[in-house]
Amino acid sequence: MKKIKIIDKKVANYWNERGESYSKSWRSLAKKRLSKLETDLVEEVICSKKEDVKKNRKNKLKTLDIGIGTGRITEAILRHQVIHYATDISKTMVEYCREKFKNNPKIREIIVHDVLTPPPRKWGKFDVITAFRVLSYSPKWQEELINLYQALKPGGSLIFTFPNKYSSAMISKLKRRPLGGREVSARELEFTLRKIGFSEWNIIGFSRLLDSFYDLCDSEISAFILFTIERILSFVFGKTLFVRLFYVTCKK
Ligand SMILES: C[S@@+](CC[C@H](N)C(=O)[O-])C[C@H]1O[C@@H](n2cnc3c(N)ncnc32)[C@H](O)[C@@H]1O
Repeated sequence: MKKIKIIDKKVANYWNERGESYSKSWRSLAKKRLSKLETDLVEEVICSKKEDVKKNRKNKLKTLDIGIGTGRITEAILRHQVIHYATDISKTMVEYCREKFKNNPKIREIIVHDVLTPPPRKWGKFDVITAFRVLSYSPKWQEELINLYQALKPGGSLIFTFPNKYSSAMISKLKRRPLGGREVSARELEFTLRKIGFSEWNIIGFSRLLDSFYDLCDSEISAFILFTIERILSFVFGKTLFVRLFYVTCKK
């Protein structure tokens, strides 16, 4: 059998230990609403592709979720007519999701794989690739993006997140990153996307307040206050200034 090449053992071990408990970080009401904003973005891109699918006389989009975790993003993708593949560097996450989605015929394969190496060639190219909260663990994040660019069909879309260098977490005391991790500015991101060859991109953000506030806001009233403050901040600072995470949608 072909040996799977895992490059970042430290990251793999960390996520193997976290396993299913990662779902708990999405438990509060405010976190659920943030998650809905993220999955809505993915579903919006998938819906925008449906016309292309009809034109090419196919009836299913081919999708790939990188760093599937406990399946939060994959669940949203599976609401649509897709042929779906997924990867994760953590064996625990892969086993968890194989069990979770075992009766779903839309799933083709879920494998242990490091995004620093290209996805298996036999999988072919994809209409939509997602990589949420995955790419910033490696200093070679640009190479990861190149791998994903190459795995897209012409006109295919990649949606990924990346931490913003200039966010509320730039005060180092507030950073809680056990694995370190990279951060970029919007300009650095745009420079990289252009250099790789993406033809168009859109960068937005959803949150400026600390993650711990999102964890704490678990009632209607507290979640309402939190999102009202976020809306005011977004009115003042615009689409990306000081956001915690960039949400990037880009097209090959
Ligand atoms: C923060 S979780 C995000 C999970 C899921 N994408 C979500 O947004 O709910 C990060 C996931 O990415 C996986 N991961 C981290 N580095 C990776 C890499 N180099 N290749 C593939 N998966 C990776 C981890 O094992 C973990 O399951």
